Amino acid sequence: ETGYFTYDPGFTSTGSCESEITYIDGDEGILLHRGYRIEDLAENCTFMEVAYLLLRGELPNQQEKEDFEQTITYHTMVHEQLLNFYRGFRRDAHPMAVMVGVVGALSSFYHDSTDITDPKQRMIASHRLIAKMPTIAAMAYKYSVGQPFIYPRNDLSYAEDFLHMTFSVPAEQYKISPTVARAMDRIFILHADHEQNASTSTVRIAGSSGANPFACIAAGISCLWGPAHGGANEAVLNMLAEIGHKDNIPKFIEKAKDKNDPFRLMGFGHRVYKNIDPRATVLKKSADEVLAELGVDDPLLELAQELEQIARNDDYFVERKLFPNVDFYSGIILKAIGFPTSMFTVLFALARTVGWVAQWNEMITDPSQKIGRPRQLYKGNTELPFTPIDKR
Ligand code: SDX
Repeated sequence: ETGYFTYDPGFTSTGSCESEITYIDGDEGILLHRGYRIEDLAENCTFMEVAYLLLRGELPNQQEKEDFEQTITYHTMVHEQLLNFYRGFRRDAHPMAVMVGVVGALSSFYHDSTDITDPKQRMIASHRLIAKMPTIAAMAYKYSVGQPFIYPRNDLSYAEDFLHMTFSVPAEQYKISPTVARAMDRIFILHADHEQNASTSTVRIAGSSGANPFACIAAGISCLWGPAHGGANEAVLNMLAEIGHKDNIPKFIEKAKDKNDPFRLMGFGHRVYKNIDPRATVLKKSADEVLAELGVDDPLLELAQELEQIARNDDYFVERKLFPNVDFYSGIILKAIGFPTSMFTVLFALARTVGWVAQWNEMITDPSQKIGRPRQLYKGNTELPFTPIDKR
C-alpha cells in the first residue's frame, strides 16, 4: 500500500526476462555464453565464432564458420551516402555521439531490412549491424583525426579489418601484428554479451515497441555511453592519469570511500559480480602479453596493478565485495594498441552489438513478448481538489 494507490510488486512486465543466451553467477564470478565458459571462449575461439554462438545457440563447425564469416564480410561496406552524413558533425564531436547518430540513421539507408515481422529481413539487419559496426566505428575515428576514410577489405578477418580501417592511411597500410589482432579479437569476445545489463535492457525495451533494429541498437549505444556502464573504460584511464603515481593511491582510495565525494574507483564494483569479473582476469593477462609484445612500457599498467592490490586488501572494498570489472584493464590494452580514450566505449559498443542483436532477436521472436512497461511505486500526492490560479 502506498497512500492512495496500491502497487503490485509482482507485476514486472520488464522487471526480469527469460533468456537462453548468457548466464552469470555473480557470487562465483562465472560467465557462460550458451553454456560455454567465457575463459574457454576467449582462449579458443574467434569473435566470429562467438557471434555465431550467441546468435544461433551453438558453436559453428568449420563450414558454418566460413559461411558466416563470408556473410558478415559481404556486408562490411557502408552506403556511400553515409560518408556525407559524417561531414555534418564537428571534427571534435565525441565518437560516441557520432555512433549514436549514424547507427540511429541506418534505417534510412537500409530500409529494406526494417520489417521486423519478416524473418529474412531480421536476419539481414542482424548481419548488417554486426558487419558494419567496425566500419562505422573506424570512420568515426578517422573523422575525429581528420584522416580519409579507409574502405574494408575482404581478405582480412573481422578484427584485422577493423584495425586496418582504423590505422591504415592511403599512403601506407597498417602492419597488422598477429598478437594485436588476437588481442583485439579477444577484447571483442569479452565484451560481446553480458545478460540483462543496462544497455541490453534498453535494446530489449526499445525492440518491444516494434522499433526497427537499427534504432534499437542506437538506443543501446546511448545507454552504454554512461560512465557507470560502458563509459567506465575511458574513465579508468582518466582516473589512472589523475592518480599519476602510486604514492597518490591512498589519497584516492580514501576519496572513493567518502560518501560526500562523488569520486568512485572506476573499473571497480559491479551490479551483479560480488567476486572478480572473470573478464577482468583474462584482460589482465592479455594486458601483460600485448604490452610485452609491443614493447610498450606503460607506467599506467603498473599503477593499475598497484591500485588493484591495495584496493583488494582494503576493508571497505572487501566488505562490499568490490573487485575489478571488465573495464579496469581493457583501456590499458587499447591505449597500447594506439586508440585514444575517446574510442574506448566505441569499441565496447562495437563488440556488444553482437549481444544486443542476439538478445533483440530472442526477444522479437518470443511469441509471449509484450511491450516493455515498467511499473512504479507511486509516492506522490493522493487526489487533491483543483485550485484556481487566483487562489494559489
Ligand atoms: C559495466 O551490468 C553489467 O553487466 C555491466 C557490464 C556489462 O558488461 O554490460 O559489466 C559493464 O558496466 C561494468 C561496470 C563499469 N562501471 C564502473 O566501473 C564504474 C565504477 N563502479 C561503480 O559505479 C559501481 O560499482 C557500479 C555502478 C558498477 C555498481 O553500482 P552499485 O550497484 O551501487 O554497487 P553496489 O550496490 O555493489 O555498491 C555497494 C557499495 C555502495 O556503498 P554503500 O552504500 O554500501 O556504503 O559499494 C560502493 C557503493 O557506493 N561502491 C563503490 C564503488 N562501487 C560501488 N565505492 C567506491 N568505488 C566504486 N567503484
